[in-house]
Amino acid sequence: MPYPEIRPRRLRRNAAVRRLVSETRIDPAELVVPMFVKEGLAEPRQIASLPGVLQHSRDSLRKAAVEAVQAGVGGIMLFGVPASRDECGSGGTDPNGILNVAISDVVSEVGDATVVMSDLCLDEFTSHGHCGVLTADGAVDNDATLEAYAEMAVAQAAAGVHVVGPSGMMDGQVGVVRRALDAAGHQDVAVLAYAAKYASAFYGPFRDAVESALEGDRRTYQQDPANLRESLREVELDVAEGADMVMVKPALPYLDVVSAVRAAVAVPVAAYQVSGEYAMVEAAAANGWVDRERVMLETLTSIRRAGAQIILTYWAVEAAQLLRERY
Ligand code: PBG
Repeated sequence: MPYPEIRPRRLRRNAAVRRLVSETRIDPAELVVPMFVKEGLAEPRQIASLPGVLQHSRDSLRKAAVEAVQAGVGGIMLFGVPASRDECGSGGTDPNGILNVAISDVVSEVGDATVVMSDLCLDEFTSHGHCGVLTADGAVDNDATLEAYAEMAVAQAAAGVHVVGPSGMMDGQVGVVRRALDAAGHQDVAVLAYAAKYASAFYGPFRDAVESALEGDRRTYQQDPANLRESLREVELDVAEGADMVMVKPALPYLDVVSAVRAAVAVPVAAYQVSGEYAMVEAAAANGWVDRERVMLETLTSIRRAGAQIILTYWAVEAAQLLRERY
């Protein structure tokens, strides 16, 4: 060894030194837990492809929201599963639709103790499962969809949501949602734009969770996994249209995108660790092939290290509890 001896291992010799020099920490306040609520359920139901995640009844959702607050999570992202669907997804805009009533349930339960967010998209509510309304020949009609999103945003804001998350990847959605919120007097409701959202096979288990009716795919509106620069363009447009925060989705297979987006904009950057990312680890852990907790925290740390300040993850409540014990 040359002198002076450079020995990086000195800073790895025990847990105390490693803790001192750790470059990345996750705070429970940066974790957001997605939750599903299904219309008409008397009891919560397990989702087979998302072990440990539930389709909630309205009652069990309230309780889960309180538990999430107690665990210290930074936010809750709500998804609704309606009892019936139609061509134009009217359950999403109906003030009595399941997502809108669930928002007011949760907000009345937790108040300002955490940030209540809602998915702003039609796919859970349409009979064909697409994120927008269709033209006569079956294509997703961008501008007609925007009108529905505007109405949906106002309904969610009226129900008391703090942040709306437009996730349909229609062109112009952030601007339209922002203008509609402002016109209805909801200037305080923030927009978390699903800005860089890929047409990903990792959404598979989510589609079970919301009982998606989709046949075919979303490649005419979600992005091609091959593209990075396209994400920068999407993010730039969303920020110009008034996005308060931007999100990359999925997370782990797209850490280069997270990192590039972080470098490109000044707004908070979120990443969504999606259902398939979660399910893969749960399946491997159930087989005894990986150490579940270590892989969980390693994935979250990597997403954080890549530059996501906020992470949506189905592990949020458990991870928050684990992190509490650790630090
Ligand atoms: C659209 C939406 C989807 C997810 C979140 N919002 C599904 C899709 O785009 O097909 C996927 C989340 C996940 O897989 O965990 N409403």
